[in-house]
Amino acid sequence: MDSQQLRQTGEDYLIRSSLLSDVVAASGGPVFVRAEGSQVWDRDGKSYLDFNSGQMCSWLGHNNPRVTEAVRHGLTQLTHASSVYYNEPQVMLAKKLAETLDAPLSRSLFIQSGADSNEAAILFARRATGKNGIAALHLSFHGYSDVSRAMSYIAAAPNHGPTIPDLYAIPTPYAYRSPIESEGDAWWQALLDISFDTLDRQCAGNLAAVIVEPLVSAGGVIELPSAYVRALKERLEARGALLIFDEAQTGLGKLGAMYAYQQCDVMPDIITVSKHFGGGMAISAMVTSDEIEQKALEGGLSFGHSHSSDPIGCTAGLASLEVIMEEDVAARAAAIGSYWQARMRDLQQRYEIIGDVRGRGCLQGIELVRERAGKEPAAKEADEIFRLCIADGLLFSVRGAHGNVVRFVPPVTTSENQIDQATDILESALRKVV
Ligand SMILES: Cc1ncc(COP(=O)(O)O)c(C=O)c1O
Repeated sequence: MDSQQLRQTGEDYLIRSSLLSDVVAASGGPVFVRAEGSQVWDRDGKSYLDFNSGQMCSWLGHNNPRVTEAVRHGLTQLTHASSVYYNEPQVMLAKKLAETLDAPLSRSLFIQSGADSNEAAILFARRATGKNGIAALHLSFHGYSDVSRAMSYIAAAPNHGPTIPDLYAIPTPYAYRSPIESEGDAWWQALLDISFDTLDRQCAGNLAAVIVEPLVSAGGVIELPSAYVRALKERLEARGALLIFDEAQTGLGKLGAMYAYQQCDVMPDIITVSKHFGGGMAISAMVTSDEIEQKALEGGLSFGHSHSSDPIGCTAGLASLEVIMEEDVAARAAAIGSYWQARMRDLQQRYEIIGDVRGRGCLQGIELVRERAGKEPAAKEADEIFRLCIADGLLFSVRGAHGNVVRFVPPVTTSENQIDQATDILESALRKVV
């Protein structure tokens, strides 16, 4: 089959997911067949720099050799095991994951996806506290299962069906578009006050937890001020409620530290990891303390899936943690991030359309605006840039509340030379669009 026939077969036989970008569909996007490091190749042999790391899951580089080898061997040992028993890779992974975390986070549960891990976190928080209210940032994304979708307010849509009871949205502290302008911290303090004034009324003592992405990714690459997160934790402690960090996109080295909670000096009660945790294979984890686990069990917890703790996923997780811990991945992420940001700031000086440059490590974004003073979102332009860059061999995604934040997640294998190439492709698209 040639690539056109393959694409047509996909059109005919696949459910047409809303995640398949309209822009890609309209331009007859590529059909991928192979990848290595920071590059992917389509059916016609054309190569692309993948600054989306697949769906962020190949951030350790596509087909990481250590993960590939471990999985190849694991497939000859134990592909699947009953979750009623322990299996060796599962136990070893739990120990290794605890070594990457700080006390008291030490007890893990392994599942398949980011959405699963967040569902588990909500369940644990509810059973451990005996309360039900869960709040999330109004620009957050936590997954597309029913509970995680209902608290993914950035993806809110009228046709998503009935929402889940006892979920609440609180304002995201978004410095570039804050409704409150102030010197210092007053702007986010006001947002936090509003959040808890309303939550206290809505939940009436029934707040179990707040879940946050420490750097809001799909919502537009928005960094939460560290002091905001610390103040959030204090308010939760005062109410006997828990703080959940969804580190799907921020953990395991990607932002230049092992975890983003370390960068803002806050200890979450529960943390979830997914995306590149499996080095490209499907596995996620929810981790909490002995105390919270004990309380959740006493609260009547019952949880499990057929593929919970599958040895193959755990083997991939173990190999990817070895890569992350032994190959100085966090330091490389920090170096890639500063080189990339320097290139973007240089473009910002020359292109008025780049209103803001932000991000940390290998999670970076530029916010496009029609003019800088009014900050009118340049969403059409972002789509056009997206389309032009795909044609020239550069992949990334366009996100944010207004569809005008261009998000880049270059794999940790990316060289300065590849960053320069990506910048040239992006600049050529910017020149055409403005
Ligand atoms: C922060 C965050 N949490 C959770 C998810 C959901 O992960 P999954 O698609 O593996 O369910 C995503 C997906 O993009 C995410 O960005």
